[in-house]
Amino acid sequence: MAAILAAIAVLSSSAGEKIEKSPLYKDASQPIAVRVNDLLGRMTLDEKIGQTNQRSVAVGMHDLGGWVPQFEQGHIGSIMNVSSPQVADSIQRIMLNKSRLGIPVLIARDVIHGYKTIFPIPLGQAATFNPDIARKGARVAATEASSDGIRWTFAPMLDIARDARWGRIAEGCGEDPYLTGQMGQAMVEGFQGGLAGDPTSLAACAKHFVAYGAAEGGRDYNSTFVPERVLRQTYLPPFRQAIDAGALTIMASFNDNDGIPVSANRHLLTDILRGEWKFPGFVVSDCFAVRELISHGVAADAADASRQTMNAGLDMEMETGHYLETMRGLIENGHVSEARLDSAVAAILYVKFAMGLFEDPFVHTPQSVKYSAEHLAAAKEAALQSAILLKNENNTLPLKPNRINRILLTGPLADARYDQLGTWIFDGEKEHTVTLRHGLDELCRKKGIAMDFVESLKYTRHDNLSGIDAAVTAARNADAIVVAVGEEAIFSGEGHCMASLNLVGRQSELVERLSATGKPVVMVVMAGRPLTIKPEIDRSAAVLYAFHPGTMGGPALADLLLGVTSPSGKTPVTFPLTTGQVPIYYNHNNTGRPANGTEIGLDGIPEDAGNTFLGCTSYYLDAGHKPMYPFGYGLSYGCFEYSDLKLSAGEYGKDQTIKARITVANNGTMDATETVQLYVRDHVASVTRPVKELKQFRRVPLRKGEKQTIEFELPVSELSYIGADLRPRIDSGDFTLFIGGNSETTLSAIFSIK
Ligand code: BGC
Repeated sequence: MAAILAAIAVLSSSAGEKIEKSPLYKDASQPIAVRVNDLLGRMTLDEKIGQTNQRSVAVGMHDLGGWVPQFEQGHIGSIMNVSSPQVADSIQRIMLNKSRLGIPVLIARDVIHGYKTIFPIPLGQAATFNPDIARKGARVAATEASSDGIRWTFAPMLDIARDARWGRIAEGCGEDPYLTGQMGQAMVEGFQGGLAGDPTSLAACAKHFVAYGAAEGGRDYNSTFVPERVLRQTYLPPFRQAIDAGALTIMASFNDNDGIPVSANRHLLTDILRGEWKFPGFVVSDCFAVRELISHGVAADAADASRQTMNAGLDMEMETGHYLETMRGLIENGHVSEARLDSAVAAILYVKFAMGLFEDPFVHTPQSVKYSAEHLAAAKEAALQSAILLKNENNTLPLKPNRINRILLTGPLADARYDQLGTWIFDGEKEHTVTLRHGLDELCRKKGIAMDFVESLKYTRHDNLSGIDAAVTAARNADAIVVAVGEEAIFSGEGHCMASLNLVGRQSELVERLSATGKPVVMVVMAGRPLTIKPEIDRSAAVLYAFHPGTMGGPALADLLLGVTSPSGKTPVTFPLTTGQVPIYYNHNNTGRPANGTEIGLDGIPEDAGNTFLGCTSYYLDAGHKPMYPFGYGLSYGCFEYSDLKLSAGEYGKDQTIKARITVANNGTMDATETVQLYVRDHVASVTRPVKELKQFRRVPLRKGEKQTIEFELPVSELSYIGADLRPRIDSGDFTLFIGGNSETTLSAIFSIK
């Protein structure tokens, strides 16, 4: 590699000048800042503008078509959607050998929850409450993607989502900033690996910065109205954590927040990202987002949009070519300073240097990593840990060979090779999916249980009453029914929002008819979001919520259904009772009139009530104030009991650490893992504070009969919040610390801060 670089060294041969054999920026021993400055000083205006231009090739392209001149002239800083090692290498060869300065391009793709081996959707990964799962998932994805020349992924998505109608809730880690921060950090670490010198590392892109998940009405791309204090308290922290973990890039979000499209928001993209957080990497626009300033109604044309976004701090423009077309004119007319362009280019070059691309941009990962046994095993483990046991009446699960001789498997998602993979899988191939049908069939054979499969509904919207009849007939011979329902993959993800969270089509009828047979119904739900399935839950003896579990979802679910392993997932979002409750989340403020559980529902209102007050607390007459399942909830085949919560002191100084001990026992008959969660409530503060906030969690494996004392250490500094003056503060006074197996835990102790 060094030889190639030496051969293409820039030679300056004008009379009297020293001949430069190896420019400073090509010297890997120099600090990155020195290399960036040196290179920037050599670039023409057009070469600089070229760095800010990201284009997309046709997906699956196998030769460079008409792009070669653009690469040679240095008009492209990044290219999206190349997924072939040969194409990737030929692009980099052109860049190194034919472009004037030999600046490699960043080859990008959306590698969200797997490349070939697909892991559970990010929301499912969040249900593991296990950052190691997320780290490993991202590492596997990066390794596989790098074998096709990809070195930049648009992930992780760190949008806090509290409205399940929003289809992109599937792509993130749910409603809680702490859980999202922990999982997001792990994903950044996993994607980025060892960076310079590591040919499997992908630059991570924390997206969508910021508040995109607060889209009004849960409708994608919609406006948001998140005030600065809430941004700082809730929406920004996961991004800060990702940057502190080294995330090299950030994607600006599509939404306009309080009237300003984020792509043109200087306060967010420059004052906070650069000024306060010292972010050294670069900001990329979302797809076509620069042009969309025109639709937002804040820019007249492409030049106006480019001027606003570049000046706001948006360094690279995705897809439209507007920077390439307009930036020279904007600079010549003084609408954008060359210094601002330089800072954008410096940030882009910084990332390329940090990744070691100048030294070696070529593909070194062998094709054999795709679907390797190790990757499939990791995907299975992720699916195992992400499934949530929501209900298990009379210990219906696990299905035991001594009680169950014959199982009927049915439902539109029982054998759904594509839908099981979930949203955002550009490269995952359904041919590699092991479905629930195949996983369960194989395990049943091993355990000596007979399994019948009746398709009933081909897909979730399928209107096939005779299929339901066939399933009901087959159910008569079975000792238990497993019915897989939920959502097709296309129902969630970008632009795929739902106004109702109920099961679509005839699925509800399917569950009802199966339940009417009197045989125990185990409902397995695959979906991109929490669904409002109370009627179907009521008709099922047991419910396992798997989200879209990925390539190895089938064998993982089979293990859980038959008790090879106990479920351990916990809800990463509040599960609403009915769609009308959303947005709904556990860490809401108390209000001046909190509901207290004694509220009168529709049935309790006297016929002639007239215009009477009904207690006037914060609740719905027809749905109360409680969700179907709270955040952090999930059962297991173990039986966990919590006792002896003790704090190291009753009072702490602001620089001290709270130590909290709790004993957790597994009094069940199976080994299992419990996620022990620690929440805090601030009693009196300068602004209203959430009723509870997750501060720490730990997965604790406990053998049957085992008891463990667990200690949490919580620095008092982590109790700080954003005050009315937009600064972090900790108030003196009383707090309650809660520990338990979900966010409704009442096991608590009070302490005070002096
Ligand atoms: C999405 C991004 C994605 C980008 C590139 C956009 O439409 O909002 O999340 O990374 O496309 O595919």
